[in-house]
Amino acid sequence: MSWFITFEGPEGAGKTTQCQLLAARLEARGYQPVLTREPGGTPLGEAIRDWLLTRGTARAETEALLFTAARAEHVASLIRPALASGRIVVCDRYVDSTLAYQGAGRGLDEAWLRALHRFATGDLWPDLTVLLDVPIEIGLARRAAAAPLSRLDREAASFHERVRAWYHAAAQREPTRWLVVDATGPVEAVADVVWRAVEALLAGRRRA
Ligand code: TYD
Repeated sequence: MSWFITFEGPEGAGKTTQCQLLAARLEARGYQPVLTREPGGTPLGEAIRDWLLTRGTARAETEALLFTAARAEHVASLIRPALASGRIVVCDRYVDSTLAYQGAGRGLDEAWLRALHRFATGDLWPDLTVLLDVPIEIGLARRAAAAPLSRLDREAASFHERVRAWYHAAAQREPTRWLVVDATGPVEAVADVVWRAVEALLAGRRRA
């Protein structure tokens, strides 16, 4: 049985660390997870990532199309083949990032973005999406301390608040797919909460 698990959240929530910890726990139990990220995961995706995070685009529509183009390639050449061969795929950000950032953040119509997702991926959705939730100020402060700010990190606080609010609303609408974790706590404690949900998923006790 293959599973598709994604991590989402505002900036500085610790997604990358938690993806790695989850992959390590899965490996320790004999699974061979595929750990990947968006934008990225393929050579084209990484090139689009570089462009979007450093140079950017003037139009929100172009930005949405580029994130989605990277995803189309990622799903077709990496995610679907991995799932077809029975692997667990752990992905750092996925379509919910487009709905949150380009939809709620930039104000693009969510119905269009969902249609674009169907076109680009054949409507592939995760089995489990972990929302690592941190207040905007904490996330951005963590981010500023750890790495140079990307173009999206530097958006106004109101942009990031809209993104976070979208995540909360999405998790409420679809509670079986989403797991909301308070990510202000210690890394290991967050990893434990995530692991319990993944164990339930693998055991068939959690259904999307
Ligand atoms: P990254 O450095 O990976 O940020 P983080 O560690 O917070 O995930 O950069 C990804 C950035 O791209 C992040 O600001 C969110 C944004 N993004 C979108 O706006 N739309 C998308 O569809 C995706 C996948 C990411």
